[in-house]
Amino acid sequence: MARTVFYTATTLDGFIATDDHSLDWLMTRVPGKDGPLDYAAFIDGVGALCMGANTYEWIHRYSHDAAGTATEAWAYAQPCWVFSHHERSAWPGADLRVTAASVPEVHAEMVAAAGGRDLWVVGGGDLAGQFLDHGLLDEVIVNIAPVTLGSGKPLLPRRAELRCLESMPSGEFIAARYEVVR
Ligand SMILES: NC(=O)c1ccc[n+]([C@@H]2O[C@H](COP(=O)([O-])OP(=O)(O)OC[C@H]3O[C@@H](n4cnc5c(N)ncnc54)[C@H](OP(=O)(O)O)[C@@H]3O)[C@@H](O)[C@H]2O)c1
Repeated sequence: MARTVFYTATTLDGFIATDDHSLDWLMTRVPGKDGPLDYAAFIDGVGALCMGANTYEWIHRYSHDAAGTATEAWAYAQPCWVFSHHERSAWPGADLRVTAASVPEVHAEMVAAAGGRDLWVVGGGDLAGQFLDHGLLDEVIVNIAPVTLGSGKPLLPRRAELRCLESMPSGEFIAARYEVVR
């Protein structure tokens, strides 16, 4: 059965970005390539993804030069819903749906588009929390980097009861997969 998964990298103290949205602590580190938590295997099983506006704009900034020309292609073949109340940077060729619809509505659209494959909540942490609030989050997969930040954008700013299904070293990271306990 299709799962809705929050798959992300986090610092040891539970932040997925610095206060000013930097991922410098992540981009310099090398994840492992093997095992059941491998990104390539994960993304193969994903049929639709969603993200918040700041995550989308970070990817846009990272993939465009100062003149606004794309330096990297949009990485996903799957349809992607971008949650926002505002117009967002255009990305010709990317299958993007900017939406301010409710999380349950978007979840239903994602399920319909995913063809039985999993849904990926890319982030941020509060958006994953909104899926949790609606009982629509099944798993949390984290790649834990050996670094602390002290402050930043939180991994999952909610109380969530989780059960660890697997964990292992993965390159410089510890990879862990949890199911949400309902
Ligand atoms: N470590 C990792 O692997 C990883 C993974 C993902 C993200 N990140 C980073 O983490 C940071 C996350 O930023 P963030 O915490 O600000 O979260 P975010 O979810 O990326 O962006 C939050 C924004 O999304 C929009 N939004 C959220 N929920 C919405 C809803 N229900 N309806 C409509 N719009 C909604 C709002 O934008 P509007 O004001 O436009 O309405 C809100 O201000 C980013 O820097 C990103 O690059 C890191």
